[in-house]
Amino acid sequence: MSDPTPPGPVLRPARTADVARVALLERDLFGPDAWSEEQVGAELSVPGRAMLVAEDPTDRSAVVGYAVLSVQGDVADLLRIGVDPTQRRTGIASALLAHLRGAARGAGAERMLLEVSDANTGAAAFYAARGFAEIHRRPRYYRDGSAALVLQLTL
Ligand SMILES: CC(C)(COP(=O)(O)OP(=O)(O)OC[C@H]1O[C@@H](n2cnc3c(N)ncnc32)[C@H](O)[C@@H]1OP(=O)(O)O)[C@@H](O)C(=O)NCCC(=O)NCCS
Repeated sequence: MSDPTPPGPVLRPARTADVARVALLERDLFGPDAWSEEQVGAELSVPGRAMLVAEDPTDRSAVVGYAVLSVQGDVADLLRIGVDPTQRRTGIASALLAHLRGAARGAGAERMLLEVSDANTGAAAFYAARGFAEIHRRPRYYRDGSAALVLQLTL
């Protein structure tokens, strides 16, 4: 009998060859706030950073998601998480986050923090579904006038 469950994403640490693709996703997902290719490349060598990519399991040459984590002491900051719009709601961001939660705990972090615009309802719903709670709100923080929500997950 065949298994009806589709294969999950294949996760691995980002490497130099992924920089251009991640920068392209950045531009598509974050527009004027996107990291440039140089900034993405620099992230690969910052101490305390982890950059993870998700490959499409049916086409391992295609990077369909990525996430960047910074761990300092007992705090982990989720700096970025993004998924190709054609691949959303298939569990890719959840898989990236689950892996980074484990990495953060392993590095000694006790909580994970992030900032998200209150206008980004999709991401806010994702974080709520994954157990993040709002601990602070910064009004008119982003250039579109939206507030920044500071969310926390206890690890
Ligand atoms: C937020 C984002 C990373 C989620 O990625 P994803 O791979 O689609 O997320 P998952 O498939 O793992 O979603 C898991 C759960 O989160 C919630 N969720 C995710 N996206 C959602 C949306 N747009 N609306 C409502 N709930 C959502 C759901 O509960 C979902 O489970 P379900 O599909 O069974 O209902 C993705 O939408 C994205 O890349 N957005 C643009 C970049 C961005 O805003 N990043 C965050 C910046 S702080």
